[in-house]
Amino acid sequence: MAASKGTLPAVSLQVGERSIELATIRASQGNHGIVVAPLMKETGLVALDTGYLNTAPCTSEITFIDGDAGILRYRGYPIEQLAEKSTFLEVAMLLIKGELPSAHDLEAFETRIDKHMYLSDDFRQIFSVMPRRAHPMATLGAAINMMAGFYPESLDPLDPSAVSLATVLLLAKMPTIISYIYRRAQGNALLYPKHGQSYIENFARMTFQLPGERFEAPEAFYRALDTLLILHADHEQNCSTSSVRMIGSAQANLYMSVSGGVSALSGPLHGGANESVLNMLQYIRDTDIEPKKFMEKVKDRSSNIRLMGFGHRVYKSYDPRAAIVKEQADAVLAALGVKDELLDIAHEVEQVALSDDYFIERRLYPNVDFYTGIIYRAMGFPASMFTPLFALGRLPGWIAQWREMIRDPAAKIGRPRQIYVGHPEREYVPLDQRP
Ligand code: ACO
Repeated sequence: MAASKGTLPAVSLQVGERSIELATIRASQGNHGIVVAPLMKETGLVALDTGYLNTAPCTSEITFIDGDAGILRYRGYPIEQLAEKSTFLEVAMLLIKGELPSAHDLEAFETRIDKHMYLSDDFRQIFSVMPRRAHPMATLGAAINMMAGFYPESLDPLDPSAVSLATVLLLAKMPTIISYIYRRAQGNALLYPKHGQSYIENFARMTFQLPGERFEAPEAFYRALDTLLILHADHEQNCSTSSVRMIGSAQANLYMSVSGGVSALSGPLHGGANESVLNMLQYIRDTDIEPKKFMEKVKDRSSNIRLMGFGHRVYKSYDPRAAIVKEQADAVLAALGVKDELLDIAHEVEQVALSDDYFIERRLYPNVDFYTGIIYRAMGFPASMFTPLFALGRLPGWIAQWREMIRDPAAKIGRPRQIYVGHPEREYVPLDQRP
């Protein structure tokens, strides 16, 4: 059903002899909805929707995606305009508060964030107990959980001032945490944030500054990093955001909920894809396999190989974020004076895929992760840090969605049903009588 104007058509469901009327709900844009919650009470049937292909667990005012037209908007603003004109913290305010901030409010917010980037020495100890080889996402999830222990005054999910504090603390401390994870892996001493440096400058310096040296990067470096964070800032009900909402629906605090989002994001089918893309491109380079031959492997179902960075649950045309990143990749590499043959391989792989019937028929296009890794690599980040960078970008979205859920009077604890297909009741068999 896709009525755009007027009243929505009535929806009825025929169950045997009975006809059940289902209420509908109008979207301001995109797909309207059918309310299926009373279905079980009315009919004894539950809706099966593995992978939530057609289930909206909430209404939301935050992000709009039209996957067929390749449109992404935060609070109504096109991603292309935000990527070009805004900063990451400005976009964070837009997502979390609902409106673009005034210059005064933005400055006050930046000052508040700046004040809280510091991590106490007790907190810094946790990085030394994690093994250097630990995957950064494991440490990141643990560190965010630890925040619940360090800042007890910001835990109450129903107290707006506690939520406001948790919001600021998460946004402020996450860059410091991520830079420490990197420095720990490198065996370098942890640095302190500096007041007066911008959010992105502080993050880059704390990450890359070598002992006894100054860290300097061209403006293009900071701008590209800021833009990549903006592009990742929200993506409506994706796997990690749904996890954050689900955990928060039990009124778990914001830190515990966001840490669940980090766990979901670590998966190679979600945030881990940017790391996998780079590994894939390196494999193609190191084995000297022709992109066309590699594509034959991808299409061979028995190989279980996917073209990483391609395909999306929602976008069935070019991911608008991928278009921005692709455009930036050449420019950023040139500004940084980096020549990377992986970028040439990526262009070639994309060309082969976009003209191959397998990808055309399934409407598989590059997603945001296809080119991001190449930019991060040019900046000096190892592949294992790509997903933490994604998490930093996605943080405002997780927070905004969690806050929307907590305030929603219709929200309930997330508790899906199932269709049980296991054994009916059977007698217990003692251990010595089992085959
Ligand atoms: N390479 C090869 N085939 C693919 C790919 C791919 N990357 N993606 C989907 N397909 C095929 C599937 O095999 C399936 O084929 P079939 O109809 O013959 O069985 C068809 O396209 C549909 O695929 P699904 O897995 O059903 O699509 P779904 O919407 O569930 O998955 C997903 C989306 C997980 C992103 C998938 O496209 C994928 O695995 N891509 C690679 C991983 C990736 O890049 N993830 C990042 C996602 S974006 C993000 O998190 C920011």
